[in-house]
Amino acid sequence: MTRKYKIAFMPGDGIGVDVLAAAKVVLDVSDFNAEIIPLDIGFTIFEKEGEPLPERTIEGLKECDAAFFGAITSKPRTDPDVQRIERKYGTIYRSPIVRLRQIFDLYSNMRPSKSYEGNPLNFRKIDGSIPMIDIVTFRENTEGLYSGIEFDSLIPELKVLPKFKEFQHRTGAEDSDIRISCRVFTRNGCERIIRKAFEYAEITKRNKVTVVHKANVIRATDGMFLEIAKKVAEEYPEVKWWDENIDATAMWLMKRPEEYSVIVSTNMFGDIITDQAAMLTGGLGFAASASTSNDFGVFEPNHGSAPKYAGQNKVNPIAALKSMGLMWEWLGETELADKLEMAISQNIKEGKIKTYDMGGTSSTTDVAKDIAQKFTTD
Ligand code: IPM
Ligand code: MG
Repeated sequence: MTRKYKIAFMPGDGIGVDVLAAAKVVLDVSDFNAEIIPLDIGFTIFEKEGEPLPERTIEGLKECDAAFFGAITSKPRTDPDVQRIERKYGTIYRSPIVRLRQIFDLYSNMRPSKSYEGNPLNFRKIDGSIPMIDIVTFRENTEGLYSGIEFDSLIPELKVLPKFKEFQHRTGAEDSDIRISCRVFTRNGCERIIRKAFEYAEITKRNKVTVVHKANVIRATDGMFLEIAKKVAEEYPEVKWWDENIDATAMWLMKRPEEYSVIVSTNMFGDIITDQAAMLTGGLGFAASASTSNDFGVFEPNHGSAPKYAGQNKVNPIAALKSMGLMWEWLGETELADKLEMAISQNIKEGKIKTYDMGGTSSTTDVAKDIAQKFTTD
């Protein structure tokens, strides 16, 4: 029996509810000793209360060792539903997941993408071969293009800067026809995520890191990212590393994905390549993530709330189960994490009980039960 943990349970919206219920099936047969604390987050609660991340959730999370999260529905601010609710409550919708990452300083977003033997969804190269992929991406999770510093016009404070004057002269755009989303990096923000990736590569003996950026064009921010990577790399002489421009990575991931091991990148680039890496290894039904600070973690499948499948007990619970495994690993419960990983691999290899995305007809619960059964038999 493990020590007693306090774990926040945040199913959120749509299929978040289905997949967290499935994870609970495995949790209940494990000897993970936890008090489960349900907390509200997402669009459903935004509709009810005008706030997608209520204060009580933030306070509740502070009492917990870790949080297990399902999915949320995120909509752009032009969406009529968002506008109606904003008007009703006099609030502004902000992505609760992005806010959670910032409030709790969950700077490291770790996302494993691994091919499982026998997975019918494994990527096939043009020559028909199936590469065995095992990539772990570390995505910076609190700054960059997600810093939330945006302007809906060329405000007077910016208009006086020569670079903006030049830009406006070249484009001929009116102040009100300009929108600005700032990509803000800090030295510390870059350094800690890069260090995390190198540390992980060393500890796991993967000993291989690719630093992904676009330093040739986005010089201020990615230039600094690359410069810091060079410095940090010196502290890890065992780790072989190289850097790539993001567009090259997008291409090489399709051509030679098996050559990557640990990837580190910035917030938006990391967002994009982890979806690509997910598709190379079975799709979003397999993509899990760990968003961690130095003392707290939120663990979630990367998929969204998929409203059209909500409540149908139909979607693949593996991404959520893998996220639970990442939570166990992070808490130091490696035995549980290893056992779960084995049970998942066995289920996929057998190929009998699988959800529709894998060509099967089993339900979310059936898959969870099969994995729970494999988990409990040594
Ligand atoms: C992810 C998602 C989020 C992101 C959205 C839902 C805000 O795409 O976790 O990858 O962009 O980070
Ligand atoms: Mg994403």
